[in-house]
Amino acid sequence: MQKENELTLDDLIVFYKEITQYDDFDPVEKAKDDFKCINNPGCKILYKKNEHGFVVYQDQYLSYYIGSLYIYPEFRNQGYGAQLISELPTDNPLSLYVYTKNPALRLYQRLGFKIIKEENKAYYMVRGINL
Ligand SMILES: CC(C)(COP(=O)(O)OP(=O)(O)OC[C@H]1O[C@@H](n2cnc3c(N)ncnc32)[C@H](O)[C@@H]1OP(=O)(O)O)[C@@H](O)C(=O)NCCC(=O)NCCS
Repeated sequence: MQKENELTLDDLIVFYKEITQYDDFDPVEKAKDDFKCINNPGCKILYKKNEHGFVVYQDQYLSYYIGSLYIYPEFRNQGYGAQLISELPTDNPLSLYVYTKNPALRLYQRLGFKIIKEENKAYYMVRGINL
């Protein structure tokens, strides 16, 4: 039986379907790839999910890489996305990719993420390193 606040394949599919507006990829295949890794201790993929949405991140030993952040449409623009990011560990830097056209870029800039480089229609951003 599915536990409350357990991340499902459908959660990831909904996320990636929305992201396909910025790039051309198969959202179901991408979601399946990520999902295979979740619950596999070797992948070190962690997540937080609550009634407003979820964040998936990977422990890369010296940093955490945020793979997806999703807030259900009815709860957007009320600070829940920022709240989920604020609940991530602070013992190491955070990094992520965001498509250059995704308005989420403003959120990450507001939260102190800095653009390191641009590649494949996306910015690589980091927070928690002195640049
Ligand atoms: C990005 C997202 C998680 C933000 O969640 P949220 O709870 O609305 O965020 P907050 O209320 O803390 O902050 C609002 C910020 O969201 C961003 N935002 C607003 N509408 C958005 C949209 N349709 N898509 C993406 N980001 C959006 C803006 O940066 C906004 O900041 P601003 O008010 O300074 O412009 C949410 O919009 C979402 O789930 N989008 C779809 C998935 C996605 O694009 N995730 C990010 C992938 S890197």
